Amino acid sequence: MTATIIDGKAFAAKVRGQVAEHVTRLKEQHNITPGLAVVLVGEDPASEVYVRSKGKMTVEVGMKSVEHKLDAETGQGDLLALIEQLNNDPEIHGILVQLPLPKHLDEDLVINSIDPAKDVDGFHISNVGLLGTGQKSMVPCTPLGCLMMLREHHGSLSGLDAVVVGRSNIVGKPMAQLLLGDSCTVTIAHSRTKDLPEVVRRADIVVAAVGRPEMVPGDWIKPGATVIDVGINRIERDGKNKLVGDADYASCAEVAGAITPVPGGVGPMTIACLLANTLTACCRANG
Ligand code: GUN
Repeated sequence: MTATIIDGKAFAAKVRGQVAEHVTRLKEQHNITPGLAVVLVGEDPASEVYVRSKGKMTVEVGMKSVEHKLDAETGQGDLLALIEQLNNDPEIHGILVQLPLPKHLDEDLVINSIDPAKDVDGFHISNVGLLGTGQKSMVPCTPLGCLMMLREHHGSLSGLDAVVVGRSNIVGKPMAQLLLGDSCTVTIAHSRTKDLPEVVRRADIVVAAVGRPEMVPGDWIKPGATVIDVGINRIERDGKNKLVGDADYASCAEVAGAITPVPGGVGPMTIACLLANTLTACCRANG
């Protein structure tokens, strides 16, 4: 079997197009421009690339983009003061603090100081609770993008066996909640899971979100299953710098029914969902 490639890049372009149309209407009919503020502390090169890309796409869909780059030694008090200022700024509808933060900052405290209504990452404890109880919330962008691709490919996910490999607060846990919300039978597997290959082999849907390059090989995949690869890992191969996922693409694509590529799968959908969340936050703020 050769898997269908789920084209996240094309899907994301479609979603951004829909967001852009909505933004145009908001401007024309209500004179409102959605605004997204991104806060980056320190100089992590990967984070700088993400933040630049987010800023560019925010502007492309017609939103206002504000970037706050703070130096690595910024104190907790100064960061909290900036968040408070953004919480109170009526032109800012979404706030994203890029993670990871430098070690001296308390990540939980910082995230929980964001107004939950502006928390476009969906990381605030009240959004996590709302999602977990099936109530209206801000939904984390990466899992939301994965769910959209799964729904597009499968139609209904009801009754499917889903295995999420990875238990992070950013991807693994919210992904499991979303799949449960769509009536999948969900397993969260992780580094301590007994007989991980056997657990993954049961799945109709595998979401690989462990942050380990090419960790899931094709012989862990049930023939015809769908593989959603959240990993973005830079490796050296044949003297070249290469971007690979958490699934071994070549062997998984031989067995799976469908698979997301890296790059061009989950990554672009994450940013598209961030823009969609900013639009949602803006619409909710303006009734
Ligand atoms: N770092 C890696 N992924 C993310 C994300 O989705 N949001 C934020 N804020 N930081 C990240």
